[in-house]
Amino acid sequence: MIALKLIETAQALFADDKGLLAMDESNPTCNKRFAEFGIPQTEEARRSYRELIVTTPNLGECISGLILYDETIRQTKKDGTSFLKIIVDAGIIPGIKVDAGAKDLAGHPGEKITEGLDGLRERLEEYAKMGARFAKWRAVIMIGPGIPSRGCVEANAQALARYAALCQEAGLVPVVEPEVLMDGDHSIDRCFALTEEVLRLVFNELYTQQVMLEGMILKPNMVVPGLTCPEQGTVNEVADATVKCLLRAVPAAVPGIAFLSGGQSGELASACLNAMNVRFRKKLPWALAFSFARAIQQPALEVWKGQEAHVQLAQHALYYRAKCNQAARRGNYPAAMEGE
Ligand code: 13P
Repeated sequence: MIALKLIETAQALFADDKGLLAMDESNPTCNKRFAEFGIPQTEEARRSYRELIVTTPNLGECISGLILYDETIRQTKKDGTSFLKIIVDAGIIPGIKVDAGAKDLAGHPGEKITEGLDGLRERLEEYAKMGARFAKWRAVIMIGPGIPSRGCVEANAQALARYAALCQEAGLVPVVEPEVLMDGDHSIDRCFALTEEVLRLVFNELYTQQVMLEGMILKPNMVVPGLTCPEQGTVNEVADATVKCLLRAVPAAVPGIAFLSGGQSGELASACLNAMNVRFRKKLPWALAFSFARAIQQPALEVWKGQEAHVQLAQHALYYRAKCNQAARRGNYPAAMEGE
């Protein structure tokens, strides 16, 4: 029974070329984004912004799932309607970030381990009762001189697998997110090699922990050069390297892959996803979709700037980027978006 429910939820999240919108920034991360635009860093400002997102007209046309944060899943619209009700009424599946953030890994200077396994079973049970149907856990792997270490990658892979097994026990589809960060001047080849190694170790641990691959979602980085690498390469190079890497490391039983944007601009993230689907969609065992935060939200946040009078325009900006990514899933971006 649980297995069927997990498979159904995972498949629903990839239906109709839709994708996920991550709006699960922790309070410190959300406040950091607000600070860039002079928006007050308060619970009420975060609530207003999240209300803007969940009430965006027609968002359910292109977004299948919204990833919430613990504060947000308990919040309501100004008129008292819960965000959860609004999301479900819009035909969108609610999900929840359940990791407790990346902390310094003992004995490994400069590296992080994601925490949050203690008490996770009970938290998942509560979120499932509230109506969440999937969950997210993000591990971060940094590239630098001498890092990542095997110790860091293995510890994070094991935590991801233990989280994923607990999610499935609770009937929630785990979004498994091992993010190789873009920071640094490394080449695309280095990103390729490390992403492949990380994914192989993650799937090894998922197998060891008996995670059912048909009932999970992988949320990886694209294979890209470091942000300060002098050779930035082309969109097609990123698409080719990313698909080649995934084909080597991701089992065909996984229903779909939903990329993070990792600091790419909205346009670039859509263009890369589009190129992958144009070139490979018909040959791949899994769907290639999106689970972006910044690459969907950034233009909307820039327009909103905390001003009530800008809400409608910001919602247009949010919907537009979401629609662009649905087009990218079809290999139809930017052609489909011209004149919009
Ligand atoms: P970005 O798309 O901004 O990288 O965020 C994705 C995400 O959910 C990180 O966990």
